[in-house]
Amino acid sequence: MKRIILALDVYDREEAIRIAEETKEYLWGIKVNWPLILGSGLGIIGELKKFGLPIIADFKVADIPNTNRLIAKKTFEVGADYIIAHAFVGRDSIKAIQEEGEVILVVEMSHPGAREFIQPNTDRFIEMANELKPFGVIAPATRPERVRYIRERLNREIKILTPGVGAQGGSVEVLKAGADYIIVGRSIYKSKNPGESARRIAEEIENGV
Ligand code: XMP
Repeated sequence: MKRIILALDVYDREEAIRIAEETKEYLWGIKVNWPLILGSGLGIIGELKKFGLPIIADFKVADIPNTNRLIAKKTFEVGADYIIAHAFVGRDSIKAIQEEGEVILVVEMSHPGAREFIQPNTDRFIEMANELKPFGVIAPATRPERVRYIRERLNREIKILTPGVGAQGGSVEVLKAGADYIIVGRSIYKSKNPGESARRIAEEIENGV
């Protein structure tokens, strides 16, 4: 089973397409974030769809229900399969997105600042996820003990996607802590040979997890 999601955080359209082409055989999906959308336009989502992989729009949506709905509608219209949203805006804002398509909820983040406001509320975000049943939640590969904690409390059918592998210091070991997918950006797209870097990570997963 493929378990790598490529975080395609480059600005340039051609570069994004080239990296996707070189790495696609090792990926479960591709995550697009604001850098690529701001650099290449929303149409890049449709262009990446041609690789036949799920596309995750990492827009970290965090608005009132009506605006969340409008953002989600357009994002799904252009071909995204999932959209990432912040949980802290509350159930009504998340349900508005779910009326348009599949959501992935941020329940914890990988940067140090996440300890300030996000982590103290993770239990409540997990509770909310169990109730709203999103496709998945985002949890930090940099803190496998937190992934284990979340896995123990989260309904089994909800996936855990973990960014922070490689550049931020996390490793594929987080899959053993209960993550379903790892999200990898810089370690792949900044390497001289993205295809080879993705292949190596896939091999590491096959050998070790
Ligand atoms: P790197 O280059 O660090 O890229 O491998 C990681 C990608 O994932 C995003 N990211 C996060 N998103 N919660 C999130 O919702 C997190 O804790 C988190 N950490 C990293 C980051 O924006 C980049 O696209």
